[in-house]
Amino acid sequence: MDTTDTSLSSLVQELRTQTQSLHRELEATTGASKLPQGTFTLPEYFKLLYGNLALHRSIEDQLEQRLSAEERTAFGLPWSHFSASLQGDLEILAGRPMPAPESHPIPSRLALIGALYVALGSTLGGKRILKWIREIPEIHESQATQYYQACEQVPPRAWPQFCSACDHLDLSSAEREVVIQGALLAFAFIKSQIAQAPAFPT
Ligand code: HEM
Repeated sequence: MDTTDTSLSSLVQELRTQTQSLHRELEATTGASKLPQGTFTLPEYFKLLYGNLALHRSIEDQLEQRLSAEERTAFGLPWSHFSASLQGDLEILAGRPMPAPESHPIPSRLALIGALYVALGSTLGGKRILKWIREIPEIHESQATQYYQACEQVPPRAWPQFCSACDHLDLSSAEREVVIQGALLAFAFIKSQIAQAPAFPT
């Protein structure tokens, strides 16, 4: 039986609508909304990287188990080593090895797709963030910018390919809801990990 509800709008559009306020909240609570003014600080940068690492590590831990190689190709995932570059940046800033943040158990393939929307979407913002942090001497000179450089290297076609693959999934409205919940959980997880980030070494 085809359970696809053709009256539903784009899944990606719905993900965007449902997560927009969480995105704004994250920009405000991390201090990242000050990036364009150049007043974003090193301790704030450290926490933002830590939140990103927590999500990327969780995804990398579960990607191969939850999505087949064919699906990963269809989603155009540029996934490789975002967590390694995040870990490297944090260690540069901390000046010592960093304990890994907790991994977030992603309960299903559909929830993982929601989390991927958040993680891949954040690399889009990452391309802009790189431009801003290059203008903040204490961040630029720290050289802890491997992750945002990796975001810049994500091919421009990756995002439209991912969005198109999401929008072509044959999903019932209940299944779409699981994807959306996966994205909301990913945002909530980043927020909780940022709140628990180790103190920035002074
Ligand atoms: C861990 C933190 C973050 C997460 C999880 C995240 C997530 C996302 C997601 C999911 C999207 C895609 C929205 C869509 O088009 O459907 C996005 C886009 C974007 N984000 Fe973020 N974001 C984060 C941090 C930031 C920060 C700190 C900024 C800047 C202050 C930012 C700026 C942007 C911008 C400008 C876009 C749109 C990029 C474009 O369309 O070219 N993001 N982000």
